[in-house]
Amino acid sequence: MQELETLSSPADIVSETKRLLYIESYGCAMNFSDSEIIGSIMSENGFDYTQNEFEADVVFLNTCAIRDNAEQKIRDRLKHLKNNKRKNSDLIIGVLGCMAERLKTKLLEEEKLVDIVAGPDSYRDLPKLVAEVENGNKAINVLLSREETYAEISPLRLNTNGISAFVSIMRGCDNMCSFCVVPFTRGRERSRDPQTIIQEVQTLSEAGYKEITLLGQNVDSYLWFGGGPKIEYKHLTDEQKNSSVNFAQLLEMVAVVNPNMRVRFSTSHPKDITDDVLLTMKKYDNICKHIHLPAQSGSSRILDTMNRTYTREWYFDKVKRIREIMPECTISCDIIVGFCGETEEDHQETITLMQASKFIFSYMYKYSERPGTLAQKKMTDDVPEEVKSRRLSEIIDVQNKISLENNLKMVGKTVRVLADSYSKKSKEDLCGRNDQNNMVVFPKANHQIGDFVEVVIEKVSSTTLIGKSIV
Ligand code: 5AD
Ligand code: SF4
Repeated sequence: MQELETLSSPADIVSETKRLLYIESYGCAMNFSDSEIIGSIMSENGFDYTQNEFEADVVFLNTCAIRDNAEQKIRDRLKHLKNNKRKNSDLIIGVLGCMAERLKTKLLEEEKLVDIVAGPDSYRDLPKLVAEVENGNKAINVLLSREETYAEISPLRLNTNGISAFVSIMRGCDNMCSFCVVPFTRGRERSRDPQTIIQEVQTLSEAGYKEITLLGQNVDSYLWFGGGPKIEYKHLTDEQKNSSVNFAQLLEMVAVVNPNMRVRFSTSHPKDITDDVLLTMKKYDNICKHIHLPAQSGSSRILDTMNRTYTREWYFDKVKRIREIMPECTISCDIIVGFCGETEEDHQETITLMQASKFIFSYMYKYSERPGTLAQKKMTDDVPEEVKSRRLSEIIDVQNKISLENNLKMVGKTVRVLADSYSKKSKEDLCGRNDQNNMVVFPKANHQIGDFVEVVIEKVSSTTLIGKSIV
């Protein structure tokens, strides 16, 4: 903290010669949100943000480590950055985020181009790390924290459309799913002070934002009791219990800030989502009726080896409960195929789980073994690559069929869309999402990006609803 202050004080004096920072984000929404925190820290310390990598003095890649191909992408990107360094030998290149945390000093050894390696809990230290490089050294900070939530930092909204924003509510993950590297790269789960969350939401509302998404690796496990690593509610003292805030309570606090501002959240864990959360969603019209509820597999045997701590039946019960409380609520999913020991029978169970749950969309992946995880240490990555590929294309087909069936049911219905961009195909069409998170495209007419528009659906594809606005 001390060093931040010393470094930040000359910023005013050198404002004439502000340096330029370029950030590229990879992976999950959390990383994109972190980049906005990084932007804010750097701007307090004499940097302006640029969208042009070639004029930058500092380039940060905020990386993902969840699958091997995510890291491969960064290695390829670094090769390209060689050209930037050739043109500007003073250019500082930093690798930040999960890949930095996973590889630590190895990254400096393997990628000579890299000057800074910084893990997800070290971003307050970035100005100091840059100064270290300017003094001719390589710089690294990969310490994980049990407390850091960047709570009071007001994110610098990067590449924003001024309509939707992410708000980070917690960091880390304590779940230890056996396939997942995140608990090792993002550390222990900790929740952010709700007052700072509400303050940020209020600021976004005043700035005219129309939609916010609360972010965390496992939002349903959010629990504020004064800070520090997660403690189960039952283990809190009476005093901590009285002043604690859980996710259902936080959701309500956020929803009432501005009833005209949409509230979304991600990601939910089937073991943690509660009736209280579902009832709060039902109670407030501005909380979107969509839940991202990764199942990962439809086989209880595989779920057990994945250490997901629920069964196929438990997952079905959650889906049933969601639909009992909010019949209109949509559910999306993450699925991994080809996890250690997955048989054809297990794979068929994944398919039937998808069909029965009627997911609005799914993110689907081939299992990628990650060093240091329980699966890598104790299990064998024994499903051949070609079988993984075949199973993946089978579940993609299944999901496309489900999506088309879901979408066909929307024809003739009227949905409320928040227009957030032009359609990719034509500037004459606007694009946005309805409450349930369907993508909707419609002729612009006299509507603008940022408007809520009532659209009657006329035709559909498996990915998109197409319609006309009713004025
Ligand atoms: N291999 C493939 N997919 C993975 N995910 C997490 N770890 C792995 C892995 N080792 C997927 C999960 C998770 C999503 C963010 O990434 O489905 O929900
Ligand atoms: Fe990874 Fe599981 Fe945590 Fe999600 S809940 S980040 S899959 S360990």
